[in-house]
Amino acid sequence: MITFILNGSETSTESEGSLLDFLRSRHLTAAKNACGEGACGACSVLIEGKAIASCMVSLEKVQGKKVTTAEGIEEAEMALYVESFAKAGAVQCGYCTPGMVIAAKALLDANPSPDEAAVRAGIKRNICRCTGYAKIVAGILLAAAARRGEPAQPIPEAASGGIGRRMTRIDAALKASGKAVYVDDIAEPEGMLYGAALRTSHPRARLLRVDISAALALPGVVTVATAKDIPGQRIIGKLKADWPTLIEVGEETRYVGDTIALVAAQSRAIAKKAISLIKADYEILEPLRNPKAALAPGAPLLHPEGNLLSSLRLKRGNADAALMEAPHVISLSFNTPFTDHAFMECESALAWPPDAQGVLLVYTGGQNVFDDRKYIAHTLGLEEEKVRVVSSFVGGGFGGKEDQAVQHHAALLAYLSGHPVKCSLGRAESSRVHVKRHAMEIDMTLACDANGKIMGMKGKVVADTGAYASLGGPVLHRAVTHLGGPYSYENIDVEGLAVYTNNPPAGAFRGFGVPQVNFAIESAMNAMAEKIGISPWEIRYRNAVRPGSVISNGQIAGPDTALEECLLAVKPVLDASGGRAGIACGFKNTGIGVGHPDIGRCILRFHADHAEVLSGAACIGQGLATILTQLACGTLGLHPERVSVAMPDTASTPNSGTTTASRQTLVTGEACRKACLDALAALGDAAGPSGSTPDSNYFPYASLAGRDFYAEYLAATDPFDSDKPNPVRHVAYSYACQLALLNDSGRLERIVAAHDSGLVVNPLSFEGQVEGGVAMGIGYALTENFPLADCVPTAKFGTLGLLRATDMPVIETIIVRKAGSGDAVDGGISGAAYGAKGIGEISTIPTASAIGGAYFLRDGRLRKRLPLEDTPYSKKES
Ligand code: FES
Repeated sequence: MITFILNGSETSTESEGSLLDFLRSRHLTAAKNACGEGACGACSVLIEGKAIASCMVSLEKVQGKKVTTAEGIEEAEMALYVESFAKAGAVQCGYCTPGMVIAAKALLDANPSPDEAAVRAGIKRNICRCTGYAKIVAGILLAAAARRGEPAQPIPEAASGGIGRRMTRIDAALKASGKAVYVDDIAEPEGMLYGAALRTSHPRARLLRVDISAALALPGVVTVATAKDIPGQRIIGKLKADWPTLIEVGEETRYVGDTIALVAAQSRAIAKKAISLIKADYEILEPLRNPKAALAPGAPLLHPEGNLLSSLRLKRGNADAALMEAPHVISLSFNTPFTDHAFMECESALAWPPDAQGVLLVYTGGQNVFDDRKYIAHTLGLEEEKVRVVSSFVGGGFGGKEDQAVQHHAALLAYLSGHPVKCSLGRAESSRVHVKRHAMEIDMTLACDANGKIMGMKGKVVADTGAYASLGGPVLHRAVTHLGGPYSYENIDVEGLAVYTNNPPAGAFRGFGVPQVNFAIESAMNAMAEKIGISPWEIRYRNAVRPGSVISNGQIAGPDTALEECLLAVKPVLDASGGRAGIACGFKNTGIGVGHPDIGRCILRFHADHAEVLSGAACIGQGLATILTQLACGTLGLHPERVSVAMPDTASTPNSGTTTASRQTLVTGEACRKACLDALAALGDAAGPSGSTPDSNYFPYASLAGRDFYAEYLAATDPFDSDKPNPVRHVAYSYACQLALLNDSGRLERIVAAHDSGLVVNPLSFEGQVEGGVAMGIGYALTENFPLADCVPTAKFGTLGLLRATDMPVIETIIVRKAGSGDAVDGGISGAAYGAKGIGEISTIPTASAIGGAYFLRDGRLRKRLPLEDTPYSKKES
């Protein structure tokens, strides 16, 4: 019997295992199970006043000690942290936040007046993948001041919540206090079973036999499923059905995340034991380790149609002739690695068997509940209407939660067992299963005239798309159409290949193929500038795409294009550095584009005292619910207390597509705006927006109570193979120019990020997206990798190279917008969603290139591989 003081009360238990498991079994779910190796701090609790990762503490170790979780922090004190974190914009997906609050309390209890360095040191054991830490540090400094009784810092404009205001996130309080419910936090329904999966150990092997008899005989095991138990379609996939839900006997495995069998049992421990009792025999085969091996003559075919998932060619003008004529030509080859999203919340799904109406309910935390519904229905052989998927809060995604990881498995086990079943992945399994950023090999030949104007470019992109298609085709497309960079020239010839291998599948990841090719073009621009004898800034300025000019991919740049302004915005800092800052530009499409139906949908529902925004669009930490609140408030003239946003639910919210491609602010935002305008029109002469800053009692829409206003927005584009001379490939592009400044010892000191994303709905949130995106870009440049040994991942969470608060430089955000383009709030409406474009991905894209440029300036060595070699950070590579 172990006895300790838990949140002020004596607690006794005979349980074994970790303190974290015990807490979560007692429904104290503020402490999150994010890494299981003591590397991330999301499970932090106070033990005798010290912040400690509870996943690494056995219950025996707390005998007689005082343990405090976020739930046990006194209400008034928690209110200080909640308010401070919210004000500072410190909360995005929120999965790390209760752990950060615990770290903050431990720090402030010991040191009530820390400086910034002390705060960073105080949270250095806590990983945040969303924020870049700056706003968490600011939140803790605010909390420190509040604890000292200093006057509260006012937030101008926060209360009104309109467009362009620094409104605090609507879910910040729930997330900071640990009350936000993610899937794994849902209280266990009666009779719930725990799902577990047997994964193959062999990236390529033929499955010869599976014996589940011993697992089935284990007491507490309810169901063991193999491929033959799938009632519907066994093979599914995001755009191409090539990914087996379970490998069948006779089939080859394609990567080490492949599933051989599933178990549903009465406890996690029993499920784990049952998995160990399943016997699988294989004929082990030589894996295809890279695209070169996969494309070699005679290579075994990983899929029936071959090892080439996708090939694309973007050809405009005559690149060969331009290369022949140009006075300056350089040819370079680049190499970028697989990397892991490392979202803090691992995948989890909770499914119920069909109810009396035959509807199966699944709670998920992915990037599109409607996709989940479709793939679950396919797997079970049901009509989509017989599956309902509801989103819980989502602890980060970054593209890594677009595919099926556990949703279909939980649903299958619930369907077969007749019990609710939860499938939650631990970190190691999550890393092994979900898609990665594509590793790419990029060849480029760039030609310029004597003045540094680009005359033409030829390039080739070979993407390792791993075992399954996922979104490898569209990622390759974005790589091909962005390899030319945000520059204006006519002669381009880019070939792209996405190749199946036995590596982990590669798919969507913030930037969607563009960070890789940005590193290539921006590094080549630096080399060319040196060759010609002009500055890196000058060569970019001379070639930058401007309104009305033709982008390298053939599209005519819109009037909102403000890349030139981004370049001018960073110039004072560059000049002050004596030209010693690395510089990179970037651009990124908003929306899916290239002719695909890309629709945002929204229902605006009126109640007697508030308006409710319903959309199936996932909020994965980027803050969409807050953005929709602001758009509705701004259009209807309401205080945010009079607007609510529903969680995505296939039964009640309209399908707004996937949260991907930096699209939701624009497409769902525009649908929301249109629904609001329809409501205003329906109100007729009755009172509408007051025209002044609304107070929380103002609600002139009571007469609309009970009415729904549905609106949708189609972002119309031309297909990739359009024969138009200047096809509209995407409805909008965001642009950026970033600087990277090193200190005397070669460490990164400062990033200056000038971004044109059109109208900024919420500058506080926008800065958070920039800081978080830049942080991810710094990791991509310097430390992150996802190493493989013979196609098998070798990294643990703690060795992925994720940056900590103490590693971060200063990040300065400069918001740039083309003068006169859609001054929506004060100067009339123009453009969808008042002229907003995406910020989610572009913030990451130029960072690694800018840092590469900084080292090139420092030592004259053009690095052509990520993470960058021979930097003070190189030792962190795993
Ligand atoms: Fe920190 Fe998402 S807010 S991990």
